[in-house]
Amino acid sequence: TQALRLGIAGLGTVGIGVVKIIRRQAALLEARTGRQIEIVAVSARDAKKDRGVNLSGYAWEADPVALARRDDIDVFVELMGGENGTAKASVEAALASGKDVVTANKALLAIHGQSLAEQAEAAGRVIRFEAAVAGGIPVVKALTEGLAGNEIKRVMGVMNGTCNYILTRMQSQGLGYNALFEECAQLGYLEADPNLDVGGIDAAHKLALLASIAFGTKPNFNGIEIEGIEHISLDDISQAADMGYRIKLLGVAQRSARGLVQRMQPCLVPSDSPLGQLEGGTNMVVIEGDAVEQIVLRGPGAGEGPTASAVLGDICDLARGIRIPTFGQPANTLKKAPAARVGLP
Ligand code: NDP
Ligand code: HSE
Repeated sequence: TQALRLGIAGLGTVGIGVVKIIRRQAALLEARTGRQIEIVAVSARDAKKDRGVNLSGYAWEADPVALARRDDIDVFVELMGGENGTAKASVEAALASGKDVVTANKALLAIHGQSLAEQAEAAGRVIRFEAAVAGGIPVVKALTEGLAGNEIKRVMGVMNGTCNYILTRMQSQGLGYNALFEECAQLGYLEADPNLDVGGIDAAHKLALLASIAFGTKPNFNGIEIEGIEHISLDDISQAADMGYRIKLLGVAQRSARGLVQRMQPCLVPSDSPLGQLEGGTNMVVIEGDAVEQIVLRGPGAGEGPTASAVLGDICDLARGIRIPTFGQPANTLKKAPAARVGLP
């Protein structure tokens, strides 16, 4: 069988993590998928940067769009980030030139996921994005495969590690929000635009994707009621604790009489519940289905290894020929998929 040939755009935290796993685990990946996984070409902004990995065996493309169009790749792996500009242009170029796409870019998909999924469907290609939702937790796969026999009632969870870190440190150390925001900046936890984290927007991007998969609707980021954690005070935290609660930035998407309701906001959760006990930068997703009842998935939502792990899950599926489209399940119903708040009981 022919190797699965990759073009990787973006060699930062996640991109280098992916390169490292493919090099370190080449034999294991081939044994599991029956195919070699081969990196053909890579792209980033700075060709001279030392990235701690020898990249000399791969072709260098200065332009990710040119990388996406190369005839010698099967899969375009987009790990640059950003909801517009190069990431979007290169994903579109990849689909138009017959490549499947793997991405970790939640911002891009939350905003443009439907249009990109329609382009993919028209081209007979798929976009896979396990790493875009809750990092290392294989929640997309859980929903699309393991829980395929369920009507999903509700998905909820903590999907931004930075906010959970701040809230749990406020609780456990009695440190104020501003001091912890500074600590996160020093530790490199914050997104380039920190408002994406503390404003609840990054977590809402993830919720939009999760809800779309769970309920077969179009991703509807604009339909999410969003409130961040910037105004949570130590008083709020201690009053909640006195009553037996913790404050978490919780995303909830559920069916209701009004259709699909999506919210991302600070919530009180019982201190002794799995969500209440969730510490530090960890993520947790709770899924409720008519048959399974409730399952809880917990794990690292960010970082080189965990995020690259999720990207590899998608790449391995494509190597095995598993090409399940993730938006608007099942296949070929994207244009008919209801917009959120419409068409759900
Ligand atoms: P980084 O900022 O570490 O890396 C981004 C990479 O993309 C860099 O190598 C950069 O090049 C390259 N790049 C950016 N813009 C361009 C461009 N216009 N042309 C060519 N290359 C470009 O980001 P991360 O690795 O942290 O994140 C990548 C994606 O994964 C994002 O969508 C992010 O939201 C998502 N993600 C990240 C997680 C994490 O824990 N980091 C977790 C889950 C998802 P150069 O190095 O030369 O500057
Ligand atoms: N800023 C994000 C977080 C990174 O803190 O969870 C992972 O998506």
